[in-house]
Amino acid sequence: MNTDNRVYNFSAGPSTLPVPVLEKAAKEMLNYRGSGMSVMEMSHRSKDFLNIIEKTEQDLRELMSIPDSYKVLFLQGGGTLQFSMIPINLFRKYKKADYVITGSWAKKAAKEASKYGEVNIVASSEDKMFSYIPEISKDMLSEDSDYLYITYNNTIYGTRYTELPEAKAPLVADISSMILSEEIDITKFGLVFAGAQKNIGPAGLTIVIIREDLIGFAPEDTPIMLDYKTHSENSSLYNTPPCYSIYMAGLTLEWIKSQGGVKAIQEMNEEKAALLYKAIDESDLFKCPVEKKDRSIMNVVFVTGDPELDKKFIEGAKQEGLVNLGGHRTVGGMRASIYNAMPIEGVKALISYMKKFEQNNKR
Ligand SMILES: Cc1ncc(COP(=O)(O)O)c(C=O)c1O
Repeated sequence: MNTDNRVYNFSAGPSTLPVPVLEKAAKEMLNYRGSGMSVMEMSHRSKDFLNIIEKTEQDLRELMSIPDSYKVLFLQGGGTLQFSMIPINLFRKYKKADYVITGSWAKKAAKEASKYGEVNIVASSEDKMFSYIPEISKDMLSEDSDYLYITYNNTIYGTRYTELPEAKAPLVADISSMILSEEIDITKFGLVFAGAQKNIGPAGLTIVIIREDLIGFAPEDTPIMLDYKTHSENSSLYNTPPCYSIYMAGLTLEWIKSQGGVKAIQEMNEEKAALLYKAIDESDLFKCPVEKKDRSIMNVVFVTGDPELDKKFIEGAKQEGLVNLGGHRTVGGMRASIYNAMPIEGVKALISYMKKFEQNNKR
C-alpha cells in the first residue's frame, strides 16, 4: 500500500489511472469550473461540454501527431464493436481482408469480419500459445484485400509488434492496450482504435482514428450508429456521447502532456518494463513465456510453472497491496499490466515482493 492508502493495481483493464487525474476529477465533481454542476450532469450540447470534447480531440491530435487528413471519433461499444464496424465500413472493393492472429482479440475480430466478407488468415502464432509475433512478408498478403488487420499489443499474451508489416492495403490496428504508451506514426495506418479503459480513462469510450478517405463506404442498410460517416459528419455528437469518459480522457491527456508527452512516457514505460523483465529473467522461479524481441511493455506475463504456486503468489501479493496480478482467465499464471499510470514505485514494489516470495519458496 502506498502513502495514499491506494493499492498498486496491475489490472489489465479497467486499469489504474494517474492520481493527479483522479484528484482533479474529484475537485471538479460537484462544480465543474464555475458551471455549478458536474460534467456528468451537463448537456452534451452545452458550451462547457463542447469545449471539453474539442480540447480533448486537440490534445490527442497533438500528442499523437494526427494529421488533418484523419478523423478522431469518440464512440461507444468498446473495442469489441470495432471488430464489427471495421469490416462493415472498410469492405469497400473486394469484400476481403487479411488478418494476423496473435491472440484471442484478433481471433474474435477475424471471426466477426467473416460474417461480412472473406477473411484471409495471413499468419497465426497460436502454434506456440501466442508467445510471439509472426513475421509478415509482402508475399504472404492478398493482392485483393481491403485492409490488413493486426492487434498491436496483445493484452492477454504479453506480446507486441516492434515492426509493422508493410502492405498495399490500409493497415488497421487494435491499439487498445498500447495507445499513448509509445510513439507511433499514425500515417502508416488507415485506422486505429482503442477502448479507453486501459491507458486513457474509464470504460465507455472508444477512440477511433481513421483516414478520411476510408469513410463513406458502409452499405446502405448499415445501422446509422455503425457507420463511421455518421460520427465523422457530426463530430462525435450525433447522439449523446460518453460525456464523462471523454472528460476523464481529456484530463489524462493533460497529464500526459505534463509528463513531457508520449516520448517521455515511452521512456518511462521502457524503463519500468526493463526492470520487471530483468527481475523475471534473473529469477530461478519465474519465467516469461514470451519471445524476448516481442515482449510487451504494457502487459508483462510470467509463470512459476506450478499453478498452485502461482495462486499463492497472487494471494500473497494482495496482502502487500499489489492487486490484480492474475493472468487472463483463459491462460492463468501472472500478468502485471504496467500502463502509463503505473508508477515505477509500483513496479519496484512488485519486484521486491517477487524476490521475497522466491526466497520463501525455494524449490
Ligand atoms: C487488445 C484488446 N482488444 C479488444 C479488447 C476488447 O475491448 P472491450 O472490452 O472494450 O470491448 C480488449 C480488452 O481487454 C483488448 O485488450
